[in-house]
Amino acid sequence: EEIPWSAEMATKGGYPHFMLKEIYEQPESLATTVAGLEWPLLETAANTLLSARNVYIVGAGSSLHAGLAFLQLLLRIKVTPVPIVASEYATYEQLFDKGDVAVAISQSGETIDTIKAVRTMREKGVRVLAVTNVVGSTISRESDAVIYTRAGPEIGVAATKTFTTQVATLSALYVAALKTLGYDTAPMEREIKALPDLVRKTLENTAGAAKDLAKRLKNKPSAYYLGRGAALPVAMEGALKLKEVAYIHAEAYPAGESKHGPIALVEEGFPVLFVFSDPNTREKTLSNVAEMKARGAYTIGTVPMKSDIAKRLDYAIEVPELGELTAPILHIVPLQLLAYFTAVEKGYDPDKPRNLAKTVTVE
Ligand code: AGP
Repeated sequence: EEIPWSAEMATKGGYPHFMLKEIYEQPESLATTVAGLEWPLLETAANTLLSARNVYIVGAGSSLHAGLAFLQLLLRIKVTPVPIVASEYATYEQLFDKGDVAVAISQSGETIDTIKAVRTMREKGVRVLAVTNVVGSTISRESDAVIYTRAGPEIGVAATKTFTTQVATLSALYVAALKTLGYDTAPMEREIKALPDLVRKTLENTAGAAKDLAKRLKNKPSAYYLGRGAALPVAMEGALKLKEVAYIHAEAYPAGESKHGPIALVEEGFPVLFVFSDPNTREKTLSNVAEMKARGAYTIGTVPMKSDIAKRLDYAIEVPELGELTAPILHIVPLQLLAYFTAVEKGYDPDKPRNLAKTVTVE
């Protein structure tokens, strides 16, 4: 009897798709990223950020979302970065000057919009710190300093393990900044070290729910992903994943902003997913849940384990988070799985979504 075999099946390591394989590789890729953190380099970079005139955070897609998660952290230490969508860098060009520092985030290091932004910034004297997954990539070569994420190669078009390793790396950069400022960072360092195990637990605890929820979502034309504060970049990333691979019109909004227009679309059964990864904004987000429920929305949430938020929602996915640094990374995991399973439910190939390329090399 012939055993069906292909080189592709072998590289997928038994998984039906690269996307699923890469989602499940996250404990391992995070372990490599955390073990490879170069603290002296991070502290030097943190020092540069702390003494900069202006700080810019630039990236596209998921890399931008990782940057927005970092921005939330920087605000706590009174660094006020300007977030820049890479393709929009020209709008900010008049700001760029000596004494400024940019954090340019790109997993591939080859996204043309981000490359162009980096080049323009450097011409104007901005120091660029690159965060990339690819050694020797254009952005790594053209920046003043590089911090590598160590996710390993990502084949699926949807960024998964490269996103979580970016957020972990940038969180470490934040911890390095706190260290420089004289804070006791031991508890946060412990949080970062616990990430691989926590992601493993999150995968175990949430995959079943994500698969079940995918069946409920597959026939919906749209969904909202809402979050406040540090939960907003996670909502944005979750919505991008669902759009990319399941072709569902998923829109992320700051939960409070949803009242200023988006709520008009909400009718019986309209799915609204709330990300509860930010402890500081939970109460206010719960009031948005109530408003959405009152309009008949089907309310979903990623919620911390053992909290009483679950019972306020129609469908809750419980995440075993540890603290504020790990929460954004852990809450994205079920949203990656949800996008994956919804795509598969609808019969799409999540590895090769239509109209998309892994690396966008045209402006
Ligand atoms: C993410 O799922 C997307 N495929 C896309 O938004 C991606 O993050 C973006 O094109 C940026 O790519 P980069 O990190 O390689 O620069």
